[in-house]
Amino acid sequence: MKVLFVCLGNICRSPMAEGVLRDLALKLGVELEIDSAGTSGFHIGESPDPRAISCLLNKGIDITDLKARQIQHSDYLYYDSIFVMDRNNLKDVLNNCPKEELKSKVQLFRFFAIDAKDQIIPDPYYGGLHDFEKVYELCNEASSHFLKNNFKPI
Ligand code: 4NP
Repeated sequence: MKVLFVCLGNICRSPMAEGVLRDLALKLGVELEIDSAGTSGFHIGESPDPRAISCLLNKGIDITDLKARQIQHSDYLYYDSIFVMDRNNLKDVLNNCPKEELKSKVQLFRFFAIDAKDQIIPDPYYGGLHDFEKVYELCNEASSHFLKNNFKPI
C-alpha cells in the first residue's frame, strides 16, 4: 500500500506524519510506501523545519533526510491514499485532482475523529515547540488508527 501525506509547505506536518507512520509501520512489520508533499511550492528542496526535526528526534525518529516537494498530478494515480492535514489542504488537493474518480483517495488524516472541528492537524509554523509536540501526538494517534483499521493482525 502506498500513502502520501500532504500539507501546505511540506516542511512541518506532512514530513512529521511521514516519519511517525514509517516508524510505527516498521515496528509492526507492516510494509508501506510513504511520501509527503506540499500544496504550495514555497519550500521546494528544503529540509523539514528544525523544530519538526528536533521534536521527532526526541522520539527516536529521524526525518533530517527528507526534502520538500510539491504535489503533482501523477501522485493522484500512484498513491492509494492521500492524507491531508486541514480543510485548506483538502480543498486545494481536491481542486488540483486531475480526475473525478481519484478524489475518493483524498481524506483528512484525522477523518476518524468524532468531533468535526477536531479532525484537523493545525499548522504549527507560526507557533512554538508545544504546537509541534501536538502535531506529533495527533500524527501518532492517527497513524495507530490507520494501521489498526487497515492491517488487522490475523
Ligand atoms: P506545513 O507548515 O504546511 O505543516 O509544512 C507550514 C510551512 C510553511 C508555511 C506555512 C505552513 N509558510 O507559510 O511558509
